[in-house]
Amino acid sequence: MINKKATQYERIARQIESLINPVRDTISCMATINAILYHKMKDFSWVGFYLLKGNVLSVGPYQGPLACLELERYKGVCWTCIQQKKTVIVPDVHEFPGHIACDPRSQSEIVVPVFNNKGVISVVLDIDSRNKNWFTDTDAEYLEKIVSMIFRPS
Ligand code: SME
Repeated sequence: MINKKATQYERIARQIESLINPVRDTISCMATINAILYHKMKDFSWVGFYLLKGNVLSVGPYQGPLACLELERYKGVCWTCIQQKKTVIVPDVHEFPGHIACDPRSQSEIVVPVFNNKGVISVVLDIDSRNKNWFTDTDAEYLEKIVSMIFRPS
């Protein structure tokens, strides 16, 4: 049985694919993904990318309230995602040791790694919600599929 969230993601993933497929610029792709997810998915309060350059993780394109520009190294959910090389779902941010609260209203969070053409994580997608327990394996599955469209072999 396909759930309601999955049906919505199916539609959104097709829309994103058709929009970004002709485009090579990765920042344009990220900005478009943010706009669609932020405006179409229920109760996503912040959607954005953090870009990893060397050992610095700094904010890239995003939609939502003002975010932290740089994330303290090896602390918080985004760095955990990079270190574990897999999607991290945080049902309650207050229970996550070292969580970095850019917006004190955030209650739950998902961070998805974005692998470049060399199979290296160069970006992460971070999404917050003001509801606890908002993100599930369905979000992980579809968001991983969506971010895999950003870096494509040329
Ligand atoms: N909460 C993140 C920081 C980024 S904000 O959610 C936009 C973290 O702990 O890495």
